[in-house]
Parts: sequence; C-alpha cells; structure tokens
Amino acid sequence: MPSRRVAATLAAALLLTPACSSQEEPPPPPASPVMPPDLHSAARPMEVRVTHMELDWKVLFDQQSLAGTVTLHLERGPDWTGQPLRLDSRDLEIRGAQAGLARGVLAPTTWRAGEADPILGTPILVDLPEGADRVRLAYRTRPEATGLQWLAPEQTAGGRHPFLYSQAQAIHARSFVPCQDTPGMRITFDAVLRVDPPLRAVMAAAPAPAAGGDGPGVFRFRMEHPVPTYLLALAAGDLTFGETGPRTGVWSEPPLLTRSVSEFADMEPMLQAAERLYGPYRWGRYDLLVLPPFFPFGGMENPTLTFLTPTVLAGDRSLVALVAHELAHSWSGNLVTNATWSDFWLNEGFTTYIQQRIMEEVYGPEVAEMHWVLGRRDLDQELAAKADAPGDQVLHIDLSGRDPDDGMNDIPYEKGALFLRLLEETYGRETFDGFLRRWFNAHAFTSVTTGQFRAYLEENLLAAHQPLPGRQAPGLDDWLEQPGLPASAPSFTSAALARVDAALAAWVQGATPAARLDTAGWTTQHWLHFLDGLPGSLTPAQMAELDAAFSFTGTGNAEVLDRWLVLAIRHGHAAADRRLEEFLTSQGRRKFLTPLYEELMKTPEGASRARRLYRWARPRYHAIARRTLDAIVGQP
Ligand code: BES
Ligand code: ZN
Repeated sequence: MPSRRVAATLAAALLLTPACSSQEEPPPPPASPVMPPDLHSAARPMEVRVTHMELDWKVLFDQQSLAGTVTLHLERGPDWTGQPLRLDSRDLEIRGAQAGLARGVLAPTTWRAGEADPILGTPILVDLPEGADRVRLAYRTRPEATGLQWLAPEQTAGGRHPFLYSQAQAIHARSFVPCQDTPGMRITFDAVLRVDPPLRAVMAAAPAPAAGGDGPGVFRFRMEHPVPTYLLALAAGDLTFGETGPRTGVWSEPPLLTRSVSEFADMEPMLQAAERLYGPYRWGRYDLLVLPPFFPFGGMENPTLTFLTPTVLAGDRSLVALVAHELAHSWSGNLVTNATWSDFWLNEGFTTYIQQRIMEEVYGPEVAEMHWVLGRRDLDQELAAKADAPGDQVLHIDLSGRDPDDGMNDIPYEKGALFLRLLEETYGRETFDGFLRRWFNAHAFTSVTTGQFRAYLEENLLAAHQPLPGRQAPGLDDWLEQPGLPASAPSFTSAALARVDAALAAWVQGATPAARLDTAGWTTQHWLHFLDGLPGSLTPAQMAELDAAFSFTGTGNAEVLDRWLVLAIRHGHAAADRRLEEFLTSQGRRKFLTPLYEELMKTPEGASRARRLYRWARPRYHAIARRTLDAIVGQP
C-alpha cells in the first residue's frame, strides 16, 4: 500500500495539468491514474512513473553513437511496494546508475538487465533506495540503434557533412534513451545536445537559453508539455532555417532551403484553418524539418517540429496534404494520444479525417473530395490484400506478439477516417465539430483508449443528439471491433475525377490517342487517379504511348513516379529501367520502395535485379525500411 503522503503527492501531481490561458473551455480533468496494460512496454507505471527527463547527449559521428546521461524524475504510484524501476531499452550500453535523494545528492545504485525480447528489447531494472526521487543512467547508443539513422555526407543534399536524425514511433525511443516507452505515459523534458561546429542540432521542443560556459555546438531545449516518448525527436547536421509565417518555418540543409520555403508557403493558412476547426494550437511554433531522402516515412508529427521526407518537394505544392496530416496530429495524437498501439487508429484515423478538413478549408471542397476518393481506393485495395487476415482489418487491433510497426497500413488511417466522416454525415457538421473540439479539450495532454473514446462518443454524441433525417446511429461494434467495412461506410464522387475516368475510358476504348486526351488543368491527384485506373494489362506499345504523351518517366513528382514505375516493371517498359534504379537507390521512403520491390520479385529476372539493387542500397536504407524489405527481397 502506498503511504498517505505518497498517494497525496501523486494526486497533486496528477492535478497539475498544463495551463492554457487561451482556452475558452474549462481546463481538462486530471489524467486517470489507472493505466491500461501496454503489451509493448516493460514499464509498470502503477508502481513508479517517470514524469520528467533531463537528457544530456554528445553526438559522436565517428562512432555513430549518442553518449551521455538521462536523469529520470520519479513518482511513486499506488502499487509501489519497493519494486525496482522498470525501463525499456534496446541495444543500449548502460555504463552506470545513480539514485538521487532529496536535495540533489546522487549515489550509486544497482541495476540489472531483464530478459531480452526480439520485438521489445531488454528491460532495465534499477533498484530504488527508499526516498529516491530520481535515477541517473550513464549510457551510449550502438550504431545499430533502430531509432537513429546516421547518414554519411554522400547521403545528404550538401554532400559535405554527416547527418543524424531520430525516429521514435512506435517503440524506437528505447534504442536511444532508456525510458518508460509507452504512449500511455507522458513526460516533460530538458535536453542538451552537443555537436561539433559548424553542425547544428534541433529537437522537437522549444530552444532553451544557453547556460554559463556553453560554447558553440551546445544546443539546449525544453518541452514543457507532457508528451509520450514516441514523440522524442532530435536531428543534427548542416541545417538552416527559413520563415514561412509568424509561427511557422522550415529547417533544411542549405541546398534545399529555397525550394522548401516555397513548397510549404501554406503552412500558416493551414495552421489557422486547423485552429478555426479544433481550437488553439497549444505548442507554440510549428516548424518542418526537411530530412535527407532516406527518411523511411512521408512525415512524422514530432511536436513543434514535423520531420518530413524531401520527396514531397514536387515544386508545385501538390503533395502538401502530408503537411496538413502532420499538422493535424497536433490535436489528434500529440494533444490526445493513443494509450496503446492497439488504439493507433485514434491517432491516425482522426488525423486523416482532420487532414481532409484542413485541405477543404485551405484548398476547397473539390480538392478535399479528390483526396477522399483516393483514400477510399487505397482502403479497398488494402482490405482486399488483407482478405485472409481479418484480424488486421479491425480498427481496435490485437497486436499480441507483434511489432507495433506492423499495424501501420491503410486500415487505421482510412477506415478510421471514414468512421469519423460517417459520424459527421450522420449528426451534421456543426454538431460533430463541436463534439470533436470538446473531446480534444476534455482529454488534452492525456492518453486515451478506444474504450474511452467509445464511452465518450456514446454519451456525448449518440445519446445527446438525434441523427439527421434518414440517418441512423452507426453500429459502434461493427466499426471498432469487426473486420471489413460496414455497409454504412460513406462513398464519394468527385466531378474532377469523373473527367479523368472519362479520359481513361476514351483512351482504353481506342477512341482517343493519349496525346489528344484533354488533360488541361490536371493536378497530381488527377494523375494518380489516372494511373490507378489504367487496365490490368497494357502492351509495351501502350506504355510507350503514355510515356511519350505525358513524360511519366521524367516526372519530378515522386508519388506519380512511384505508381508509374510499378506499371513499368509490370508491363515491361524498359525505357524506365534507369530511372527505376536511380529511384530505388537515391531515396528510402518505405511506402515507395515496398511496391517496387514487390513488383520486381514477381518474375525471376526482376527478382535478381531486385537482389542486386537491394544489396547495394540496403546499408543506406533506414532500419525500419530494411525490416520490411528483408521480408520481401530476403536478406543479402
Ligand atoms: N505518425 C505517422 C508515421 C508513423 C506511424 C511512424 C507509425 C511510425 C509508426 C505519420 O503521421 C504518418 O502517418 N505519415 C504518413 C503520411 C500520411 C500523409 C499518411 C507517411 O509517412 O506515409
Ligand atoms: Zn499520421
């Protein structure tokens, strides 16, 4: 049993929700001290929880290591009876542990590694002397840390300096800091990063003032809002900054800055649109960091500083839905967080829905509707691909024994977004927008489960409002706990894309040659719909005709190029061979690499080409992309 004093401190701390003066709504209630079990963490927050971290890191490019200390500030939970603090770790070299007693004295304490697990890593158990309120671990990361990518100068835009960045979601923070690596827990932090000048370090946090004695190459940061560990993020390299608005801007290597600032000129209007819809942006600044091309994702919503692939630099702002997406996470995900990775759809489904709402505000309903159509097609394809894995079609997914990275596919994103769109259509936009605003305010800076959302939804929307005439309340079990797509799922029509369908039909039937199709005013989304709609069999002559008319092989738009190259492999369009090899070896976005390698592996000649390219490129790809591609191409 916890002592009364410990219980009182815990209760007081839980009441200390962050102040937010600009909120019209009442402050959120205290977080529930009851934690849902998280399969993917060794932490036992009901015994002891980490509330704050002090990070002190030196970036050692020559050893591919972050070396330093973390000081974890602790609070006893209701189940504490003297157990050790249990932390998650993977591939860390722990060099020593100290426990801090009141008034700042640190003394050595004992620790041991628990049993290693191939997915979860190795728990670290640190003994806590009576009264210890802090633990400090000295440690260093290994070059193979899955949460860090160390890039050689040749892999950067500038070509002269090395580059380091982190990617912590889902459970990779533990590979660069021993921590309670569960999205159900939140911490604030202070950090210092030491790099050799002229390199610069950035973090997803606010810059903090220099301390006395800080020379060049010392960068300090502070995160005053409690965040889950998967949102810890850092980068170091030759970085410069350009403004896009009073609260927004872009970090990138110098050669990419001008292009980046112009590509992302709409960040400020997007931020304003999101605030009109869902209430004040609570994180201060919103900046982007354009990474080198081997970043395995499109974007990562690290708070105050979204990490972004440079493959969105299309030159015409046509791929900025990705920025709307990562910005939307400032509400869905970063402010209100999935408590476990089984609740991932609460992050991504909400965010995909909000992304569309932001796109509609900034670019108009026709553009948003095109995105809905494309998203629905992706979902239908994903459901078909997972026909024999019904469990994976469920929003509230069971990830027992699995790596949470495996839950990342179109189902949580697109099925989740469709569910929210259905709620909007059923209860009306105004009612649903108000409901979402209240949901975010009532749960700000806390982590929530699918069950909590369901209960809140039943009470505050389904029981409190009537469906619009001709509408019915959706079956929550069907949407949240069952595979497939309920019959009530919204479907979409887009007049803009109907024009594309008409052009496609005219070409397929031989009525109009490709060069004479009326494609005036087509945007990237039109072209993606065009490529997705091509028939399953095309002759080499037809491929050549399309390429001659529309220069797909030469396009600078990575989304269009990726789809085209899949078709080029499938239909034997050898003119695209060189471009394919260049694309596979010059960028590492997993979403682009996966379909290309999969397509190559379908024939013996393709497979030997895939293996040859992969052998060369694999060491340059990120660990997360390697894990996916090893399963497709085989480990060299
Ligand atoms: N948070 C995700 C990226 C992520 C998810 C990383 C799970 C690791 C595990 C991010 O917000 C995201 O969804 N990125 C998408 C882009 C989006 C427009 C669909 C991506 O990278 O493709
Ligand atoms: Zn996302």
